[in-house]
Amino acid sequence: MPASPSSVPRGPLDGIRVIVGVCAGIAAYKAAHVVRGLTERGADVRVVPTQSSLEFVGTATWEALSHNPVRTSVFEDVDSVAHVRLGQEADAILVVPATADFIARARMGSADDLLTASLLVTRAPVILAPAMHTEMWEHPATRENIDVLRSRGVHVIEPASGRLTGRDTGVGRLPEPEAIVQFTQSVLASGERARDLEGSHVVITAGGTREELDPVRVLTNHSSGKQGTALARGAYVRGARVTLVLAGASVEPPAGVEVVRVESAADLSSAVRRLEGEADALIMAAAVSDFTPETSESKIKKREDESGLTLHLTETEDILRGLVERRAPGQRPRVICGFAAETGDEHTNALAHAKRKAQAKGADLLAFNDVSENAFGSDRNELTFLDAHGEIIGAASGSKDEVSHAMLDHVAELLTRDHG
Ligand SMILES: Cc1cc2nc3c(=O)[nH]c(=O)nc-3n(C[C@H](O)[C@H](O)[C@H](O)COP(=O)(O)O)c2cc1C
Repeated sequence: MPASPSSVPRGPLDGIRVIVGVCAGIAAYKAAHVVRGLTERGADVRVVPTQSSLEFVGTATWEALSHNPVRTSVFEDVDSVAHVRLGQEADAILVVPATADFIARARMGSADDLLTASLLVTRAPVILAPAMHTEMWEHPATRENIDVLRSRGVHVIEPASGRLTGRDTGVGRLPEPEAIVQFTQSVLASGERARDLEGSHVVITAGGTREELDPVRVLTNHSSGKQGTALARGAYVRGARVTLVLAGASVEPPAGVEVVRVESAADLSSAVRRLEGEADALIMAAAVSDFTPETSESKIKKREDESGLTLHLTETEDILRGLVERRAPGQRPRVICGFAAETGDEHTNALAHAKRKAQAKGADLLAFNDVSENAFGSDRNELTFLDAHGEIIGAASGSKDEVSHAMLDHVAELLTRDHG
């Protein structure tokens, strides 16, 4: 039976109007996955390709994927004044891939086709995902154009490093389509917020650690890494340099951030020790194992007598408390944040556990979530923010991108307070 309109599931971008500009780069075909990712989340997508980009991917692809007509010139649909209307109605404009030539035209304020005209008209956020050869990306003209566009508030997703069009490799590759869609979601979730983390280095841990039992088995937890990666994305959207210490997660790392991969609690601790001296803010969002087994060098065999196996686990280091204890007054990280994923028990509710944890750890900010109510792996979250005394200083609920921005508001505020 066909689903009735009321039973159609709502996506996180339901009713959001996104113009996807496509330029004449070899990565144009990847924009098809971006359009699909946006429409699957409920967005109303209008694809506006440049004339040259139609050499790479034709209008039929864009019309079929977006379910909307496709135009490139300001001289089409003249009766509906499309060159003004599209930009006025958009909630965001995303250009993927953005070529060197397009970036130069956008910097100049050209309006010689429908895409550049829409850029001049819109007051919505503009996101560029450049892709080109390393030489073009590093050319002083492109560097200057990017700096000017960023200074005007345009979001530019740093290209990735990897295989380029020919046989060469280097910086200039388009980030993964899923990472571009998620970046767009974070920009939309950031609302009117400015680039208030510009000039700061934010280090974030995410995912769940994996403790090796033997060469084939690990002990781990249910953390998906979605909250920590949403924080990393949010901090990057707000202008920070971001290093993400990612433990064993299968989640797509955000575009534009440096990723350090780790496995165990001990690995994560070493990575944090390496980075803490250069971090302005350090957010510990990873689910770090509290216990670790002794690792067997060979696979532990099944017992013939069915006597079972008893594991002896030892406590791992308390990384958050260690960080706070090591920090000398006025030293980095200037802001230390932790997470408390708690459940209640027969004596104490989850919030009371979190308040106790906040007081014991002494971090500048602790984000508490009640994991008896919020399933791991969910796209939504509910956070309560506590200060070092365990006092509630705020709360947020919504998508993981939305609650990340609410948490980053506190981080940005703490960073300025520390300055003053
Ligand atoms: C095969 C091929 C691949 C290209 N790839 C890129 C690219 O990845 N990035 C880029 O900036 N230009 C690339 N170009 C050059 C642009 O297509 C050219 O600058 C064009 O004028 C850009 O038009 P547009 O910005 O209006 O889309 C490529 C050209 C060709 C022929």
